Amino acid sequence: MKRLLIIAAAVALAGGIIHSCLKSDAMTVSSPDGNINVGFHVSPEGEIYYTVASRGATVLDSSRLAIDARECRLGYNAAVKNVSRSSVDEQWTTVWGEESTIRNNYNEMRVELCENDSIGVEYAIVFRVFDDGVGFRYEIPSQAAIDSITIMDERTEFALAEDAVAWSIPWDHEYYEHIYEPSIASRLDTVCTPVTMKMTDSLYLSIHEAALTDYASMNLHPCGGTCLKTYLTPWSSGEKVFTAAPMKSPWRTVIVASAAADLITSRMMLNLNDECALDDVSWIEPGRYIGIWWGMHRRNYTWEAGPDHGATTENTKRYIDFAAANGYSGVLVEGWNRGWDGDWSANGHLFSFTEAYPDFDIEEVCRYAAGKGVRLIGHHETGGAATNYENQLDSAFALYRRLGVNSVKTGYVNKLLDGRELHGSQYGVRHYRKVIETAARYGIMIDNHEPVMPTGLQRTYPNLMTQEGVRGQEYNGWSPDGGNPPEHTVTLPFTRGLAGPMDYTPGIFNFENKAVPGTRPQNTLAKELALSVVLYSPLQMSADMIENYENQPAFEFLTQCPVDWERTLVPEAKIGEYVTIARKERGGDRWFIGAITGCNAHEHCLKLDFLDDGADYVARVFADAGDADYRTNPMAMEIYDVPVDRHKILPLRMAPGGGAAVLISKR
Ligand code: NOJ
Ligand code: CA
Repeated sequence: MKRLLIIAAAVALAGGIIHSCLKSDAMTVSSPDGNINVGFHVSPEGEIYYTVASRGATVLDSSRLAIDARECRLGYNAAVKNVSRSSVDEQWTTVWGEESTIRNNYNEMRVELCENDSIGVEYAIVFRVFDDGVGFRYEIPSQAAIDSITIMDERTEFALAEDAVAWSIPWDHEYYEHIYEPSIASRLDTVCTPVTMKMTDSLYLSIHEAALTDYASMNLHPCGGTCLKTYLTPWSSGEKVFTAAPMKSPWRTVIVASAAADLITSRMMLNLNDECALDDVSWIEPGRYIGIWWGMHRRNYTWEAGPDHGATTENTKRYIDFAAANGYSGVLVEGWNRGWDGDWSANGHLFSFTEAYPDFDIEEVCRYAAGKGVRLIGHHETGGAATNYENQLDSAFALYRRLGVNSVKTGYVNKLLDGRELHGSQYGVRHYRKVIETAARYGIMIDNHEPVMPTGLQRTYPNLMTQEGVRGQEYNGWSPDGGNPPEHTVTLPFTRGLAGPMDYTPGIFNFENKAVPGTRPQNTLAKELALSVVLYSPLQMSADMIENYENQPAFEFLTQCPVDWERTLVPEAKIGEYVTIARKERGGDRWFIGAITGCNAHEHCLKLDFLDDGADYVARVFADAGDADYRTNPMAMEIYDVPVDRHKILPLRMAPGGGAAVLISKR
């Protein structure tokens, strides 16, 4: 105790003689192209603030940075000790993704500070400014003054220079499965990030975070005027984060774009994650999959064993045959294991991840699949019982590894994990990361449903393939509101899509729903095809029951559409109204176009100037017929070939709720 007092006194003395000797104008940093400028200053009272400007216009006014911990406070009585700068300009290769290589180019400013109080904690705010936005984080180095840190509140602010239209979902969510509604930023309630905003016709922002590995997820709520403040998802006991020095917070990120399309092509979140932590990634294989899945959501099958059980050996073999015949690498089978009987999403309900139902011969199914060059996609629904899952992780993954299953879909249908903690809490973040890391050790890829909002961790763990955390196709099977409205999928690429791949599971061909009449995909069949391009996922499902694909000419597009891309372009975009995405397949010459619209008909004259010079191509177009309409005639589609080259313009006509899917290959 005596020693502690001496240290405290020494630090307080040291704190007393530290002064901010740098003028505020010295504490600025700009993006490599000079368009984005970040400033940092300390108020006379010792509070710390940052600002962001784009092309000379203020984007964020003075916005406070502060952390309240039980053991110390940051940003209340601060003094700058040092400012250092560095720059990075490098390329890195993705294991899979929307681009094969990504440029990581930023200027960094590291502001080292000390609090002039009795503890005198030393910390740093690190800014990285890219051409497409800004990331910053708090760092607390190892030091004698502090060890354990219990964060009760992070007061990071985003003081919008002007009010803006903001697309968001409520914080009090069911696994982020909501419709992103446009609102006015200053009138938001507490919302999850990403929050995407249109400030002016030429200024778009999206606030989110990167590299959330052992912290609480970030949410935002208005804190007066047009200022938004961080609200960290708490533990059930009220604390936000348990940590210790040395610590680094996740990056707080603001994409700054002059057009909506540029939000989608920003790779800043990935650049702010650590590089790949796995030595061997040769086993990581993006792929297309089908599954015994929609049949349960539409109540043709049951998850639990019984007369209508979906996951029988025989039915799975039928799916395996179909996958092999149509170039699908995986077959998802839900309801194969014991635990589905009764109310499986009730707290305390426990699944087994190693015991199959008697009518599912897992050994035989996996042997059969291997003989056909197909793999089973494993399924682990936990019902939110995270500890029960952790206790079985090793045995469950070891079983799958022995059987040649190299991807697993996990699920957490329960508002609380282990009956106590929120998915976005530090508890949840730790659990999901443990699953990803353990899976990597067993050579298993993860498709995480009901996750914590993604933040780019797939750069570090590329076996984290895809995640839900989105109101996906399943709602078109049973939602009493009729399903996802047409605007939903033209909003997702600018909102949830900015957080990473989405396992939305597109590809329904049969819109009849005897179980919940009136609930169905609220779009045309052509739009349903286009979603496989627009909504990126390296494990991409064709979600319908296989009998609905038989003898369907449109199915050709799904069997051709890759899941791993060389390049991604966004030729046209308006949030909530329409978007066209063009992607070039990795390791090939073909381009795939997905164009989709909301409720209103739309025409996009697509310039093909991204095609190779001097090369002749043919475009196979899967488009809404002239009389198509998502409400009255959703199946009406035309399929035709057009010779094209880079000087041509391809008209894409979309019906209300419609779309167009195009495959362009060299002649
Ligand atoms: C919710 C998931 O999102 C869905 O895909 C799955 O079929 C059910 N949970 C059952 O695990
Ligand atoms: Ca779900």
